[in-house]
Order: sequence, then structure tokens, then C-alpha cells
Amino acid sequence: MYRLIALFLLFLVGRTTAASADFLLRSPDGKLRIVIQSPDSELQYLVVFRDDTLFRPSSLGLILGGNDTLRRFKILSVDSSFAEKEWEPRYGTRSRISDRHHSYNFRLQMARSHRNIAVEFRLFNDGFAFRYRLTDTLEQLDILGELSTFRFSRDANSWWAWADYNTYEKTYQHTRLSEASHVATPFTVQFDSGTCVSVHEAAIEEYTSMTLRRSMTDSLSFDVNLVPWSDGVAVKTSSPMVTPWRVVFVAPRAADLLESNVLLNLNSPAVRDFSFVKPLRYIGIWWEMHLGLTTWKHEGGRHGATTEKAKAYIDFAAAHSMGGVLVEGWNTGWENWGEKNAFDFRTPYADFDLEELAEYANVRNVQLIGHHETGGDILSYESHIDSAFAKYKRLGIHYVKTGYAGPVNPPTEHHHGQYMIRHFNKVMRKAAQYEIMLDVHESVIPSGLSRTYPNLMTFEAVRGMEWNAWSDGNPPSHTCILPFTRGMAGPMDYTPCIFDAREDNFSAKRIPWNGLDKGNNTVHSTLSNQLALLVVNYSPMQMAADLLENYQSHPAYQFVEKLPDTWDESRVLAASIGEYVVVARRRGTTWFVAGITNEYSREISLPLDFLEQEVDYSVESCTDAPGSHFNTDPESYVLQTGIARATTSFRLWMAPGGGGVVVFSR
Ligand code: NOJ
Ligand code: CA
Repeated sequence: MYRLIALFLLFLVGRTTAASADFLLRSPDGKLRIVIQSPDSELQYLVVFRDDTLFRPSSLGLILGGNDTLRRFKILSVDSSFAEKEWEPRYGTRSRISDRHHSYNFRLQMARSHRNIAVEFRLFNDGFAFRYRLTDTLEQLDILGELSTFRFSRDANSWWAWADYNTYEKTYQHTRLSEASHVATPFTVQFDSGTCVSVHEAAIEEYTSMTLRRSMTDSLSFDVNLVPWSDGVAVKTSSPMVTPWRVVFVAPRAADLLESNVLLNLNSPAVRDFSFVKPLRYIGIWWEMHLGLTTWKHEGGRHGATTEKAKAYIDFAAAHSMGGVLVEGWNTGWENWGEKNAFDFRTPYADFDLEELAEYANVRNVQLIGHHETGGDILSYESHIDSAFAKYKRLGIHYVKTGYAGPVNPPTEHHHGQYMIRHFNKVMRKAAQYEIMLDVHESVIPSGLSRTYPNLMTFEAVRGMEWNAWSDGNPPSHTCILPFTRGMAGPMDYTPCIFDAREDNFSAKRIPWNGLDKGNNTVHSTLSNQLALLVVNYSPMQMAADLLENYQSHPAYQFVEKLPDTWDESRVLAASIGEYVVVARRRGTTWFVAGITNEYSREISLPLDFLEQEVDYSVESCTDAPGSHFNTDPESYVLQTGIARATTSFRLWMAPGGGGVVVFSR
């Protein structure tokens, strides 16, 4: 084994004999350090943050077809570089993103096959990532698995959802790390010291997605487990190729975790013109079908998507600065939802005049949001997609919500495997050609690709609001866990802002449409919590999901009306995973502060030092009323106004399952 080491770039530590040397990698501020070791010709990494070992030596490597692994190799060269830049996203929680990192590139040659592989590390101050690059030219290459592991140094708290190859719509578990077994990512861990670590992946382009499986022999060690094709192969590819990044967010406190830009920074900048992309808030004909008040399908006389109702939504949107209106159940086929070839994605029902409504929306400067529910029938959707997108484009429809509620067709493939990732990425590229922005439901977990394809606006991949309409629902702690878990993967179409939380208000009119509905549903949060979710969880397509009649003339709706679609700056003022989150976001000179709590009431005193000094800000707030409670009184709230300065503080009291929004403007 020999090593060519660029000594001026790389700091060499440990033993210095050529055969056993370790390499020390550092973040720009030097607080995050990784030691690369190679005992017995294996490559391992060990992670230290502020003198605290987070990961013990953990394996790296791939298993390729032909049983070749990255277990035995020689290092051909190592080089490193430093990058520092700022860039401007088209939308997001801040208008400028800083990217400072050290890169390290280990060029290796596999001992058995003599194949060339590079392992690339990137170290930021608040996290690191690594990926594998296969550099030889090969027409066909099967990746059977990955040897990457995350060997935590000690037990800790962890928040996780069960790994599932077909859905992310789950509640979260809060257990000791050693009790987590097979988990989806982002997988979030907090040591007793307060330090947080979240493991995820970035830039999944021509690959499959990963889950993490606890090792059989080490209860603190998690192995990358790739979602396979039906024949067991994980990834079918050719080389040269590069894998997604394995990402580890690292933060001294839970609040800092939420301020990370690492995921977007690991994705490439866009290479084509995306000036058509614009964030927006939307309302829609949606919640009523989930409640069972109306139906997606036309037959049965309870059809939700009528021309008249859509016009009422468009009128309201135009009058109340709401960017878009989504209409589900507009197209024929819902009576066959779940069967093959149910939809052609073009033909409206007789009581829905698509052409007229597109024109009606256009002249009022409201975006009509199209909807493609595929039911998972990929073979059918791909055969219709060009004509469906072309129709929308002709009508001036630039936003489309897609959905994959149902098993994948072809039936042998998993929802989160490479077959579907290819499909999702194909739809994303095609939508870009038609200048269409996407909100993808039942998607694969996002990985920051929206930087490269900004028309990929938002995703579900979460147990969202719909579950509150027809199941036992989401517990109040769910939304206090989400920012630290699912939220680490990027924008989330949770569809919040249900003002009328007691669904029994209209229970007599409901006809359950799925087997999970026991008819006793409620949204487990207060009105102020629902309002705060719009700010806490940023989404560039953000839905205010309640029925139109619950917003019309509602005094609290003014906060939805004022809400910006994108932010200049964001800070997390207070956070404890699963308990509470308070964020402050600025657009121009106006700050929105929003907080949510779990099932426990709490008061949080917020210093207002983010406001400009010596300026009087007018304050408008919507917070819980003294008797508010997610179970017994979810709908009461208090509106208040006042004056504040940077030197004052604000006491935000939140009821059980409650929250609040406070707007500071000049
Ligand atoms: C599931 C989606 O998540 C939901 O938003 C949609 O209304 C239904 N599928 C029907 O497409
Ligand atoms: Ca869903």
C-alpha cells in the first residue's frame, strides 16, 4: 500500500508510518473533526465534535455485483480544498445561503478488482457528508449494498419512524438510541450533553433511497440499508457514477439543528433557467373530501369539485392575497381509483369546466393548481404525462400537485426504490420543460434536489393533516418532532391551518370514505397552533387547508393573508425536540414569530433582540385563550395589538396542544 499525500493540505495525525497513518479532516472552524483510519486495509471514519467523540470508527464501502467490496484497497492519493461562497435560493427560509466547507477526496483502488473508487468527504461547521464516486467506465454496474455505518459512541435519546419501503406517513417513536431498530431517515439523536445528530442523505438522483438498520452485534451501530429492486439488487447503474451523500447534521443544541443549510449546499446549483418558479400560498377543494363531506368521484351526487365552488375559492383567493387554488377530484377516473388505467389526467367531470376556470383564475391573477392522482400507476401516468402537462401549460396552469396513493404499478417495485426515484426525477425534469412547479405527495423523502430543480417545490413524505380527518390522528407532539426529523429533509406540504378543529361540528354530514375513520376525529391542536404551523414549517407551496367557509370573515385569517411566501432571514428562538419550537422569520422589515407546543402548556419568554434597536414595532398576535386546550377547547384564541422594542421581551403562553403567532412590523 502506498499513499500520495498532499501534506500541505492535509494534516497528518496518529502513527506516521506509511502503512498505518490516519488522516485528520476538519471543519472550517476546526470544531468538527473526522479521523480516517485504515486498519487491515479497510476504510473507517471516527467523528469528534468539540472534543466529544460522536461516532466510533465506522465503516465505509460498497458491495458491488461480483462480490467486490471496498473492504480492501490501496489509497492512490488524497487531496483537499476549501470552498466559501454565498448563493441566493429562489425561495426558502433565508434569501442568502452561505456555504463554507472543507472537501477531502480519497482516491482508492480496490485490491481485488483494481477498480477505482473515490470517497469524498465534506466538512461544514454544522455537519458533514461523504459519498462514493465510481470512476471506471462500465456499461453496467450493480450495487448490491453499502457498507457505510454510523457507530454512535454512547446511548442517547432518539426520534424515529419505522423504516418502510413504501410510505413515510407514520407517527414517530421516542426511545433510547439502543432501542431503535430499523428506521427511516432523517434519524435524529440527542446525547445527554445536548449535542444533536441527524442522519439523512442528499442529492438522490440515479440511485435508491436508504434506511438505517441497527447492527445485530452492536446496539449503538446503524448500517445503511438500501431499498432494493424486486430482484434484490439495490442500484442498477453504469459508471462513472456518484452515490448520494450520506449526511450527518451536527449541532450543540436542538435549536441549531434547524438552522442548517447543509442539505441544500450538498446539492448542485441549477443549470437551466428557472425564472418561472415562484413560491405561493394556496387554499383548495381538498379538506372536505378528507372529512367525507363530499367526494372526489362524481357518482353518488356528492361531488366536491364543481365549477361554482371553484369560482368561490378563486374569488376569495383574489380578494385575500392568496396565490393559488388547488382542486382535487376535477378529472374523470376517481370511481376507479385503485384500479389500473383509472385516469387520463385530461378529462374533467361534466360539472367542472376546466377551460372556463383556468381563464377565470388567470384574469384574477390566481394560480389554478392542477392535480394528478396516479394511484401509484406509474405505467399509466408516464404514458399520459406529456399530454397532461401540455394541456395544463396551454391553459396557463403552472402548479401541479401529484399523488401516489396506492401500490406501485409495476407491482414488484417499492415506492422508495430506484424504479420510483427514476420516475419522480423524470416527472421533475418533464415538469421543468413545461414550466410547471410540483408539490409531490407520497413522494420519496426529499434530499435537497430542489436546489438543482427549483420547480420541485414541496413534498409530503409525512403523516400530514389528512390523517386528522379520518384516523386516530396525529398527537400534539407529532408537529413538535417533525421539524427535527422529517423537516431536516426540506420543505413539507403538511397542509396546516385548520381553524374548525372540532370535526364533530359537522359530523352528521360526514360519510367516512376509508376504513380508518371511526367518525370521532379531531385535529389535536388549537387554532393558534394551526396558524403557527404555517410559519414553523416552511413550504414554498404552503396550503391553508380548511374549508373556505371557515376562513370567510374569520378574524384570525388576517395572519394567513399577511404571511410571506418566502423569507429573508430565519432564527430558531427556542426548541426542545418533541416539546416545543419557536421560530422568528423576517421578510423585509417585518418579523413573524411563531411557536407550537406538545400536549403540555408552557410559557416562553422571548428576547426581542432580533428587532432593530430603538425602533418601535407594532405588534399583532394570535395566541391561545386562557381556556384553550387541544381536546376540550381547540377553537378559542385571543387577538392582541401593542408596541414593542428590541430591548423588551415577549411572553408567549401556549395552551396544551397550543401555539401562537406574533407579527412585529414597522
Ligand atoms: C393522498 C394525498 O396525500 C392527499 O393530499 C390527496 O388528497 C389524496 N391522496 C387524494 O389524491
Ligand atoms: Ca398522503
